[in-house]
Amino acid sequence: MHTNFKGRDLLTLAELTPEDLTHVLDVAEAPAARWPSFAGSSAALIFMKPSLRTRVSFEVGCVQLGVHPIVMGPYDAFSRHETVHDTIKVLERYVDLIVLRTFAHSHVEEVAEHASVPVINALTDDFHPCQGLADLLTIRQHKGALQGLRLAYVGDGNNMAHTYLLAGALAGMDVVVATPEGYEPARHAVAQASDLAARYVTGSRFEVMRDPAAAVAGADVVVTDTWASMGQEEEHDRRLRDFAGYQVDAAVMGKADPAAIFMHCLPAHRGEEVSDEVIDSARSVVFDEAENRLHAQRAWMSLVL
Ligand code: CP
Ligand code: NVA
Repeated sequence: MHTNFKGRDLLTLAELTPEDLTHVLDVAEAPAARWPSFAGSSAALIFMKPSLRTRVSFEVGCVQLGVHPIVMGPYDAFSRHETVHDTIKVLERYVDLIVLRTFAHSHVEEVAEHASVPVINALTDDFHPCQGLADLLTIRQHKGALQGLRLAYVGDGNNMAHTYLLAGALAGMDVVVATPEGYEPARHAVAQASDLAARYVTGSRFEVMRDPAAAVAGADVVVTDTWASMGQEEEHDRRLRDFAGYQVDAAVMGKADPAAIFMHCLPAHRGEEVSDEVIDSARSVVFDEAENRLHAQRAWMSLVL
């Protein structure tokens, strides 16, 4: 049985049990006639970094639930030296939900600590749980189930790699990550994934390795992400050199299970982490992933409001 969702924060995915996760994915597939209405509610959507998918999917999701979305940038919130505490104490007098995209993960944790309304992490340097929910929904739709699948992530051990580790732990998927030396996922994320898998006895196993071909061998899901995340723009050229050999191209996809799907949270850098041939192939489900952001986030908002 899933736990009660009202008022809960979504900061990493580790807050969910496997039953919670299944429930969110089930609610995400509910037809429009079953969506609740929260008319008269408002949500603050705060973006300290750029966004296309997250911003638009949250705005549309809010409208579908009767919630009025208020989109803010770095000039509006956390500006003018106002403390996080004071900013949140003001915002919670106006809005019923806070969605925040920011840099340090500790920022969203601090917001959640002060907020009396639910807080949703819309991406930090360490985690992207909304994308994690959308991706699990996408995998379930294409593969029928999550338990026992092998997900191979090739590229930077970043916020998305961390998110797949936690997602895999809850869903009973094995997660194999291939990165160049120095770009491994944080040890705390791997340890947390192992702890979750052990706590809920989901059977997931995790491996971090160098060789993309070995990681992808027999995989049901092949995933990559940008080599230079938001905030790392000045490292782009160095990273391009360091990630040579890590592009998901047709040869890499050829190692995966013949029915494997290709995923990318987008924005993609074609010719860098993925070839045109792969992202444009019939195995690519990247636009289903983008659509599922809307369904997963609407489901989460409808449960916590
Ligand atoms: N995948 C994702 O979060 O996209 P945006 O950065 O455009 O929101
Ligand atoms: N790792 C990327 C994901 C973008 C959705 C970033 O943080 O920029």
